[in-house]
Formats: sequence, C-alpha cells, structure tokens
Amino acid sequence: MPRWNRALVTGASSGIGAAIAHQLADDGTDLVVVARDRARLDALAAEAGVDVEVMVADLSIPDDVARVAARIRTEERPVDLLVNNAGLGFTGRFADLDYERERGVVAVNVLALHELSHAAAVAMSAAGRGGILNIASVAGYWPSKGGATYGATKAFVNSFSESLHQDLADAGVSVTVSCPGFTRTEFQDRAEIDSSDIPGLLWQDAETVAAHALAAVADGKARVVPGALNKLGVALLKVAPLRLVRRVNVRDLD
Ligand SMILES: NC(=O)c1ccc[n+]([C@@H]2O[C@H](COP(=O)([O-])OP(=O)(O)OC[C@H]3O[C@@H](n4cnc5c(N)ncnc54)[C@H](OP(=O)(O)O)[C@@H]3O)[C@@H](O)[C@H]2O)c1
Repeated sequence: MPRWNRALVTGASSGIGAAIAHQLADDGTDLVVVARDRARLDALAAEAGVDVEVMVADLSIPDDVARVAARIRTEERPVDLLVNNAGLGFTGRFADLDYERERGVVAVNVLALHELSHAAAVAMSAAGRGGILNIASVAGYWPSKGGATYGATKAFVNSFSESLHQDLADAGVSVTVSCPGFTRTEFQDRAEIDSSDIPGLLWQDAETVAAHALAAVADGKARVVPGALNKLGVALLKVAPLRLVRRVNVRDLD
C-alpha cells in the first residue's frame, strides 16, 4: 500500500528528481513528472510500472509554472505529494555572470517552488492531508564567493520550508526540506563547476539523497540533511561566526 496516491515531481528527468520519482514508483505511487526534456520523462514513464502523467514545462517561464500549479489544484486524480526538486545554479563573480541566466535561477529555484507550494497548500489543506518536499542545499547555509544567487535561493527554500512546516501542520499537510551536499548528478556539469578536486568522501549518490528525503517525508520531519559530514557541516555553519564562514571558500575565482 503506497503512502501517497499521486506525487508531482519537478526536475524528474535527471539526478535527485529522477531517483525520487523511481523510488516513489517502486512504492506504488502514481506520478506526474515535470521537466523540459520530454524524451527522458517519456522513458521514465515507460519503465515506472505505475500511472505516469508527463508534463513538459520550463519552470523559468511563468505560463508554464501556472500550468503546473493548475494541475496541482485539479480535484480529479489529485496530487497528494508535491516534490519541488527542479533547480540549477551557476558559479562565478556575480558581475561576470549572464544576468538572464541568473534571473532564471531565481525563477526556477524560488518563484516556481513558491507558486507550486501555494497551489499545493490550498489544495492539500482543503483535502485535509498531503505532503510537500522541497530540495534545498547545504549551500543555503553558506554565504560564499562565487555562489551568491544559488546560495540565496537555497536559503529561501530552507527558511520558507521551515516556516511552512509549522504553518500547514494543523491542516494535516507535512512539509519537509532536504539539504543535500555534493551529489553526483548532472548538476555540476550544468553549473559549469570543475568538481574534480572535491574529495570523494564528500560525495553522495542521488539514490541515497532521494531515500533520505523520502524517509524524512514519511516521518513528517521538517528537515533532513543527508550524510554525517553534511550534518556536521550544517551544524558548524549554523553556529560559526560569519567572519569565520566568510574565510571558508571552496571557489578560487582569481
Ligand atoms: N547535485 C548536487 O550537488 C546538489 C546539492 C545540493 C542540492 N541540489 C539540488 O538538487 C536538486 C536537483 O538537482 P540535481 O543535482 O539532481 O541536478 P540535475 O541532474 O542537473 O537535475 C536538475 C533537474 O532540474 C530540472 N530543471 C532545471 N531547469 C529547469 C527548468 N527551467 N524547468 C524545468 N525543470 C528544470 C532538469 O530537467 P530538464 O533539464 O529536463 O528541464 C533536471 O531534471 C536541485 O534543486 C539542486 O539545487 C543538488
């Protein structure tokens, strides 16, 4: 018996989102999968073994986000778990980065997640049950050179999700934020990050991150940081004086 009837997963075409979609399907949860790459979503649908609706949407485009939000509000075949996973980021000095790409990062990581969460909050509150899983990042706790926009979007996701967890509890809707660290997906290549010098023990695979996130959702937890090193990192970042945090930079932009 699946915990959820139907989950809508954004960014299901790759990485952590694809792993979450596969694990939900393995548990018997029907899916609505959202991303830009139709071929990958169709391939997922073909092998999932559950009912899968494919929604091709670019979540940096307001009309596409509105279309996905409308699907979440639909009473027919209701979505009872929303996974806001789609996300991206670029590295470099803010002044050197292309502004349209930076705007797109805010649009996908913040605005789309915000609008889809609202649609889910309304629909799930009316139903008296549901879950929202937001994928943030350790980077949300780490103000760092070369990662200004991405880190700030993930700080938004952390704060917003923690508040929503309290806000929606009485309505029977659980909200969980996952804060992964370095995870082997397409993220680093898309971000144009050279990650070759990041030590192996800091990496996790997408399946592990997905499993931790879904276990936390099942337990109704507000937050999950997968992996002991990431947990330690977040704990230190939360208590360390900012003047020390500013000195810890992984990126050499000079
Ligand atoms: N990998 C890491 O080290 C790491 C660490 C911490 C947090 N995270 C977070 O984990 C989440 C998943 O990332 P990942 O690591 O799995 O990276 P990934 O393999 O690059 O996957 C990103 C997903 O987001 C989708 N996406 C990107 N832009 C989109 C847009 N404009 N509209 C719709 N979908 C879009 C992509 O689908 P299409 O290209 O098909 O549209 C893809 O499915 C992100 O929120 C990321 O910030 C990643």
